[in-house]
Amino acid sequence: MSPQPQAAVGAPLSRVDGRLKVTGAALYAAEHDVEGVLHGVIVDSSVGRGRIVSVDTDAALAHPGVLRVISHRDAPKLTYRDNPGSNNPEGRRLRVFQDDKVLFHGQPVAVVIATTLEAAQHGASLVEVRYDAKKPSTDMAEAKPDEPTRYARGDAEAGLRGAAVRMDLDYRMARNHQNAMEPHATLARWDGDKLTVWDKTQWVVGTQTELSTVFDLPMKSVRVISPFIGGAFGSGLRCWPHTVVAALAARETKRPVKVVLSRRQMYFGTGFRPSYDYRLRLGSDRRGRLAAMSHEMDAETSSYEKFEEAIMLAGQMFYSTPHVSQAYRKVPLDVNTPIWMRGPGFANASFAIESAMDELAHRLGADPIELRLRNEPAEDESKGLPWSTRRLRECYTVGAREFGWHRRDPKPRSTRDGDWLIGLGMAAAVYDPGRNPAQARVRLDADGTAVAEAATSDMGPGTYTSQTQVAADALGLTMRTVTFRLGDSRYPPTPPHGGSQTMTVVGSAVLDACDKVRSQAIELAVEDEESPLYGARADDIIVRSGRLHVEGSPARGETYQRLLTRNRLTHLEATGSYAGAPEPARHSYFSYGAVFTEVGVDVSLGLVRVRRMLGVYDVGRIVSPKLADSQALGGMVGGIGQALLEHTVTDHRDGRIVNAGLADYLVPVNADIPDLKAIYLEGEDPDADPLGVKGIGEIVQVGVAPAIANAVFNATGRRVRELPITAEALI
Ligand code: MOS
Repeated sequence: MSPQPQAAVGAPLSRVDGRLKVTGAALYAAEHDVEGVLHGVIVDSSVGRGRIVSVDTDAALAHPGVLRVISHRDAPKLTYRDNPGSNNPEGRRLRVFQDDKVLFHGQPVAVVIATTLEAAQHGASLVEVRYDAKKPSTDMAEAKPDEPTRYARGDAEAGLRGAAVRMDLDYRMARNHQNAMEPHATLARWDGDKLTVWDKTQWVVGTQTELSTVFDLPMKSVRVISPFIGGAFGSGLRCWPHTVVAALAARETKRPVKVVLSRRQMYFGTGFRPSYDYRLRLGSDRRGRLAAMSHEMDAETSSYEKFEEAIMLAGQMFYSTPHVSQAYRKVPLDVNTPIWMRGPGFANASFAIESAMDELAHRLGADPIELRLRNEPAEDESKGLPWSTRRLRECYTVGAREFGWHRRDPKPRSTRDGDWLIGLGMAAAVYDPGRNPAQARVRLDADGTAVAEAATSDMGPGTYTSQTQVAADALGLTMRTVTFRLGDSRYPPTPPHGGSQTMTVVGSAVLDACDKVRSQAIELAVEDEESPLYGARADDIIVRSGRLHVEGSPARGETYQRLLTRNRLTHLEATGSYAGAPEPARHSYFSYGAVFTEVGVDVSLGLVRVRRMLGVYDVGRIVSPKLADSQALGGMVGGIGQALLEHTVTDHRDGRIVNAGLADYLVPVNADIPDLKAIYLEGEDPDADPLGVKGIGEIVQVGVAPAIANAVFNATGRRVRELPITAEALI
């Protein structure tokens, strides 16, 4: 087939669902309503470990409007079949109300179901739960880690011993919570033995499999609907206990039940970016060429599941290093199980590695970019594979030029602006985007409009818009005549909406489905004696604005509408797919970037203010420049939060999170955000996928924290190896 003209892809379009969002017409999980809905409010544990001794529900049940309280005392037994292939980590997942054990502070122990939200909330406050409480173990420093996962090449210890320059650095990174604007919520309704949930999830298929295994239902008996998500950043990547609570409560009361987590409950009920202790030792020659690196990472997990993330990859592939050793230890604690959060693994690994490279550059008197170039590997040394595309050099060159890197004085504390010490810093970024199999379906109607569907989500990147762009160009239709539908488990299955893969894998499936439909139409036309295209070569035909014509002879053609109507066809339809990453891999495939920033540090107060930031990204083809900017700038904001503000604090006496709310858990606000800019290297990754896209959504948080830490060092001469960087560390 002839390649289609690209009109929508690459254009800086506004969101097709923008109007729905700003007028409030877009319905989020908690906003859906069904006839006869009841409200469920979760009672969560006020102790961090132990057993439930008694649950007194009398006062709650006496409250007007309260219909039922369910706890482990009267909850039916749930099946909890294994759920292989889900995002549940290895272990035994929390079973809602199945026994008297308390595994962490804030664990759901009962649900109060009432006719109104207010009655349910008040009822929940009246439930008296008594515990046999034990002191929880929530402090990584005092807990016993599991056996490490290891990686090695060469002999890191020998390499370190023989190195001319050696550094041994300890980094600490705080626990972070995703804190999306929209709270997690589930509305569950049973129709006989069929379950429908309206849910905040980044994976409708994942929630469908989880509910089907928990309640022992066939997959087709569970439907998950999630058309809009108000941010998630990873917190919606698995099905959490409150979703099971809603479904259970609905089954028990034989009425639909809605459960909305409070902001406080989000801190206990939906996972988090685990805290890390990261010891990094490196050795180089006198020119800063790395000989050896040793990474020892300890990260939180729960007592009942082994949460894991890609903390090890960057240390294996990013810099040319003959000798590498890594040990990644999970530390089981009495906490809820962590979950991926934006730039998972890489955002933490990059803080350690990119801070250390800056430190090494300073020690050797080398420019930080020059030092990185000296360590640029020719291939992926961990896999022995060539890169698909790795355009870091260009990221550095373009970034340095656009940012004015030459104005940086390498001597710390040398630039001042009134009370502010000014510093410039940079860091590299890398992310490993997912490439899992996906499907999509497209129907072209005889009226010349089309609908594409896939069970993916849109937590904010603009999936509705970007997928419509792909479909519009592939079908040769305008944006207005194509509708993309998502967020329903009845649509063709897709992998989690996360890991920077949606544009790649769903986009490729949509492209494939549209190519098939266009090809069907073209075949129909060239074989139809009544068509002006009769007898033309199929390969010469393109479609533009819904009209098929011979390329170069626009006069010879006809519209889809005429073609289908004359042939008495109501529609053409096709399912498309993306098969996943090529197996075996021929290339090593990553997204790359370089982050530059300027900070001011108040000389007497130690306050850090980011003054400007530039990210330059090698992420393949940009389908939607306006949406890419929305991702990039949002990721930088997330990185500024990680660098300077975000820190989930636990009271180790009882396992309570003390800052479980947006008043106390600090996130960047407008006053914290300066001029941010993103540049994308032009071109595409030919090995990536049919669209030439690499992922952008995750990498944009990677590299931000170390760039800021490095700028803080340049400003003050203080090397802060702990996140967040607080004023206390700088005065
Ligand atoms: Mo992303 S952390 O996979 O939402």
